[in-house]
Amino acid sequence: MKVFVTGHRGFIGVHLVELLKQAGHQVTGCDLRLFEGCEWEPMPICDRELVKDVRELALEDVDGHDCVMHLAAISNDPMGDLDPDITFGINRDASIKLAQLAKQAGVGRYLFSGSCSVYGAGEKLDLAEDDTLNPLTAYAKSKIETETAVSELADAGFTPVYLRNATAYGHSPMLRIDLVVNNLLACALATGEIRIMSDGTPWRPLVHCRDIARAFIAFMNAPREKVSNMAINVGGNSENYRVRDVADQVKRLMPNASITFTGEVGADPRNYRVNFDLLGRVLPDFRLQYNLESGMDELHRKMVDHGFKLADFQGDRYVRLRTLRHRMNLLNQQAEQVS
Ligand SMILES: NC(=O)c1ccc[n+]([C@@H]2O[C@H](COP(=O)([O-])OP(=O)(O)OC[C@H]3O[C@@H](n4cnc5c(N)ncnc54)[C@H](O)[C@@H]3O)[C@@H](O)[C@H]2O)c1
Repeated sequence: MKVFVTGHRGFIGVHLVELLKQAGHQVTGCDLRLFEGCEWEPMPICDRELVKDVRELALEDVDGHDCVMHLAAISNDPMGDLDPDITFGINRDASIKLAQLAKQAGVGRYLFSGSCSVYGAGEKLDLAEDDTLNPLTAYAKSKIETETAVSELADAGFTPVYLRNATAYGHSPMLRIDLVVNNLLACALATGEIRIMSDGTPWRPLVHCRDIARAFIAFMNAPREKVSNMAINVGGNSENYRVRDVADQVKRLMPNASITFTGEVGADPRNYRVNFDLLGRVLPDFRLQYNLESGMDELHRKMVDHGFKLADFQGDRYVRLRTLRHRMNLLNQQAEQVS
C-alpha cells in the first residue's frame, strides 16, 4: 500500500516507517524536522520525504495514497501550553484539513494519533471510550476536537479511526526522555536518583512506542466496518501503573538508585487508569509485544550501550519542550505564511 505518514521523524514515527517498510509498503513521510539534530540512532528512510509544515499540505501531496497516518503534532501537554494558538493550529485545524484533503483525494483511510490524555482527571478508574472526557490542556482539547470534527467526514468511502494512545515509553532511534518512564530511567542512570515530581500515586496507562506503531498498521489492515469512525484506546489493561510502580521497576534495574518524592506538582491532576477492552474486540489478533518490564530492560541496555550521561539528561536534545522553545520562531514564521 502507499502510506502517507506525518511526523515520521518523531519518537513513534520512526518505528512506524521501519515497520511499514519491513512489511513492503511504500511510504511518503511529511515532517517539519523540528527536532533535527536530536537523533539518537540512524533513522529509517522513506521512499519520499516532504519537509513541510502539515498546515501547508495540499491535495497533490496526499493524492495517490491508500492511507494517511497522522502523527505530526505538538506532542505533549507542557509543549501544547507554550502557545495554545499554535497547538490548536497544528494539532486540530491542520488535522481536520488533512482529513478533508484525504477524503477529497480519495484516500480511503485516515488514522489519527490521539491520546488517552483526553480523559484528563478521571472521574472514575478504568475509563472506556464512551466515558466522560475531561481534557485539561490545549493538547488534550486539540485531540478531542479533531475527533469530533473529522467524524463528520466519515462515510462509505472514507474511514477515519482515532487511536487514543496511552503514554508512550521505550527505546526509539528518536529518543525522548520527557515521558514518565524514560524520564525516571534516564534520571536514575545520569544522577543515581529516581526523582518523582508527584507523590507517586497517579495512575498512567503506558504503552511501548513500537507497539503504538504496530497498532497503526493493524488499524490500516483491519476491515473497514470494524473500525470506521471509532475512537479506540491503544494500550493494555495490565499496563496501567502508578508512577511509584514505575520507580520500583527502575530500582529493579538499578538497585543502588535512591527514590525521592519531590512532591513539587502536588497530587498530579492527570490521574487516569484506562480500559482497553475495545481494542481487543476490534483487533482480536493484535497483541502488545512489550510490557513495562521488557520495554524498560531494552531501554536500559540501550542507554548503557550509548553511555547515557548527566549532560544527556540535562541537555536539550532528548527533551522536546527544551528544543521546541528554541525553534518556536520557526513555527511562528510558518504560521504567518499559512495565514
Ligand atoms: N509520545 C506519547 O506518549 C504519545 C501519547 C499519545 C499520543 N501521542 C501522539 O502521537 C504523535 C507522535 O508523538 P511522538 O511522541 O512521536 O512525538 P514527537 O514530538 O517525537 O514527534 C512529532 C513529530 O511531528 C513533527 N511536527 C510537529 N509539528 C509539525 C508540523 N506543523 N508540520 C510537520 N511536522 C510537524 C515534529 O518535527 C516531530 O518529528 C503525536 O500526535 C502525539 O500527540 C504521543
